[in-house]
Amino acid sequence: MLRSMRFAGKSAISEHLVIRRETEENRAPLEAGNPAARAAKTADRFRKLYGEDCLLYRAPGRINLIGEHTDYNEGFVMPVAINFYCWVAICPAEGRAVEVHSTNFNERRSFDLDRPQPFGDWSDYVQGVAFMLQRAGLQLQGGKMLISSDVPIGSGLSSSAALEVAAALALLGQQNTSYDRNQLALSCQRAENEFVGARCGIMDQFIACHGQAGRLLMLDCRSLEYRLLPVPEDLRLVICNTMVRHAIAAGEYNARRSQCEEGGRLLSRTRPGISALRDATLEDLERHGNVLPPEILKRCRHVISENQRVVAAAAALESGDLEKFGELMAASHESLRHDFEVSCPELDLMVNLARQVEGVYAARMTGGGFGGCTVNLVAKEAVGNFQKEIASKYQEQTGKSPEIYVSTASEGAGRWEETA
Ligand code: GLA
Repeated sequence: MLRSMRFAGKSAISEHLVIRRETEENRAPLEAGNPAARAAKTADRFRKLYGEDCLLYRAPGRINLIGEHTDYNEGFVMPVAINFYCWVAICPAEGRAVEVHSTNFNERRSFDLDRPQPFGDWSDYVQGVAFMLQRAGLQLQGGKMLISSDVPIGSGLSSSAALEVAAALALLGQQNTSYDRNQLALSCQRAENEFVGARCGIMDQFIACHGQAGRLLMLDCRSLEYRLLPVPEDLRLVICNTMVRHAIAAGEYNARRSQCEEGGRLLSRTRPGISALRDATLEDLERHGNVLPPEILKRCRHVISENQRVVAAAAALESGDLEKFGELMAASHESLRHDFEVSCPELDLMVNLARQVEGVYAARMTGGGFGGCTVNLVAKEAVGNFQKEIASKYQEQTGKSPEIYVSTASEGAGRWEETA
């Protein structure tokens, strides 16, 4: 029965958990740098809430260094897992009901594994994942769950994929089911596409599943082949949160995806071998750009040039050429701003401020856009000054106080081994 049900677009959530409630935990990641303390606190809460012991799972948020809006065009991306995690505690329960409590939203929901029904809120990510895992043939059982996330919500750091992947591991872990991490990522993406109704690509779920400490991931979103490359040791990943999220984000994301698909379809008629924008070249655009409406031409130009930049960025990194890497990230930002039109004044300001600070190799928006965060590659010794400069200048010019996080490249999802 589950197989025949369809949910796409039905949910009232049209955005990645953008319904931001200002509970204490949504403001700043708590104990993010001390996972053992974080685990103990989550287990303690679980015990207070349900009176039982639990198993703990966690999955990270991400930043993307380069390769934006290329994943759903079967192109290349270069994300890194960050040291903010979504934690999920779980214990089994009789029957088919799953009870879920979120500390971020301070709300509890309950759903039936055999009768999926979206609520139109945060719990749809959990329910959607349960539904898709079962659709993939995996057996699940009822349980009690507690969710507590340090990934800033609705800030473009992939809080939704972190929740999906951590919840999936928790639901599967109960059954001791063995699973393939690519399949896990795909099931989570499907939950978001078909149950929640956001047509995201595979990047966020994939990095949450495959991230590794000290490494960035170069992923081919068509074949799902990937390489893990070292993040240079003297660099720090600094994330600047603009503290804005423009309401148009969700609708515009799906609209961009449709435009790309239309561009791919129109170009495929001009030459055999183009089945997605990934296959098109800038030369194709020069020759056959006239078959594309002007706006779609710009969207295609971004995707095609961005794919080239990701490949060039991986080569620059491997040859230790950080200047080049920085130039490619800067070009990516400009292309997202002018051709893909997903930046906004706050992101542009944050990037411009960063470019003026000493010791910054690169700065650009990261994630879907329309607010959220920038990612900055900063020399280790310049980080303190960078934080001070950006915080004061951004506040001076916008009246908003930015959150600035310094992250290391972190581990992907897994079970927290010290059981409660
Ligand atoms: C969001 C989506 C990803 C990707 C980025 C843009 O984060 O979830 O799949 O498309 O936007 O690169």
